[in-house]
Amino acid sequence: MIKLLNIKTGLLLLASMTISVATSAYQMNEQEIKSDIDWQAVPVIEKTLFFPGMITFDWINSPAHKGFTKPDFAKKTCSNCHQGEEQGLGDLLIKNDHLDKMAGKAGSLKTQFQFANDDQFLYVKATWKTASPFPARLHDTLLYKKGKWTIIGGDRGKNPYTPIYEDRFSIMIDDGSVEQFSQQGCWMSCHRGARDIGQATKSDVLDLDVIGRNGLGKTDIRKYLPDTRTERYGLNWDKVKTQEEIDQLKADGKFVDLMQWRSARSAPTGAADDGYVLEYRHNDAGRTVFTWNFDKKTSLPKYMFDKSVTGFYALNKEDFNDLNKRIALIEGVNTMPYDASKIEEGQYLQGRLNRKGEGSAGDNQQVASSWTNGKYTVIFKRKLDTGHPEEDKIMKIGGTYDFNIAIHDGQTTTRYHYVTLPFTLGIGQDAQGSVNSTEQ
Ligand code: HEC
Repeated sequence: MIKLLNIKTGLLLLASMTISVATSAYQMNEQEIKSDIDWQAVPVIEKTLFFPGMITFDWINSPAHKGFTKPDFAKKTCSNCHQGEEQGLGDLLIKNDHLDKMAGKAGSLKTQFQFANDDQFLYVKATWKTASPFPARLHDTLLYKKGKWTIIGGDRGKNPYTPIYEDRFSIMIDDGSVEQFSQQGCWMSCHRGARDIGQATKSDVLDLDVIGRNGLGKTDIRKYLPDTRTERYGLNWDKVKTQEEIDQLKADGKFVDLMQWRSARSAPTGAADDGYVLEYRHNDAGRTVFTWNFDKKTSLPKYMFDKSVTGFYALNKEDFNDLNKRIALIEGVNTMPYDASKIEEGQYLQGRLNRKGEGSAGDNQQVASSWTNGKYTVIFKRKLDTGHPEEDKIMKIGGTYDFNIAIHDGQTTTRYHYVTLPFTLGIGQDAQGSVNSTEQ
């Protein structure tokens, strides 16, 4: 188990520091976010994140997985059997997917982590060398041609040569409420039928109770936990429990917290989104940190850049990777209402709008990030107790929590990410070790 230093007791003598960045660094957000941690005093833990291919919860818990047939499999964590094998697993799985040849994608990604806490906050610092040749500052992008706006862009999976997409750093947390999470981590949320894993059809999803047209109104399957299905194992995406049963699971805290730093859709405001996984991947309640900048009824952008702030109304292609230009569209900071007369043929606007989050969805707005010579650094600062126990995992000093971290690097989405094996964090030096933990 990784035990965190409480800087209050551990590092009393050290002065507080702001994030120091090299001169060639590009800060992903304009305001520097103060981090009261002396990172030099916090141990660096290197983890190898690996490409998980099509390995799903149902595969892990089936005889096709050799581990499943071992005695006491149910009580063991992935790390009990696979610690140190991450790179090998990634090499194997990337070949199965042919992505090494198709997109030149590596099977694994070494990442340097530092974990710390003070009385109020958990800090997670991560640094990795990115395969994106520049900080990925676009997601859905709007192009103006012959009097019409169209949405362009797409991830490297769909658009291997000229991806226009973001990168992501995601943290999943449980507090011991979700059965099997401490052993199987994020694989609990990964199932056949989900986007890009034997994707269920739109009409089949719409027909589902709870998820489809009579419920959430969704047209695809995303992350979900097996507790929300009437059958735990096997192909079960369509075996959804009743709304009452799912509400009860939520009230009992049987969901996992999921927070995602997004290089285009949250980094520009120093934020990460805040969500949770139960029968679907949800946003927390309140105002999310990003939304569409496109009115689907009129097919027009809602906002453009306020030239008096940015020096331009819209983007040209050469601006995409010009780091002297801030190209995020941030509500109330550099926006003005869309005015067609100011736009020229062939210009672009961001299809997504960054904004200040509110309520539970706005819990993560102190996330610093930078891109320095091809390396991303993200410093996640999250309240131990967010005040929103109905959709966040509340952490306490002395407590032990199960974590899984994912990085979408090289402008990809869905399962084309790198993941850690699940691991445990003890908050503070007095934290009790988790029975199943094998981390030092
Ligand atoms: C009790 C030990 C054990 C546990 C726990 C375990 N595994 Fe395995 N796993 C194995 C063994 C044994 C193999 C076969 C290895 C081999 O053939 O070299 C295997 C194979 C794999 C493979 C290779 C797949 C392939 O195509 O060959 C993956 C991926 C994998 N496990 C992932 C996981 C993940 C993720 C977890 C946790 C959710 C996990 N395993 C838990 C023992 C285990």
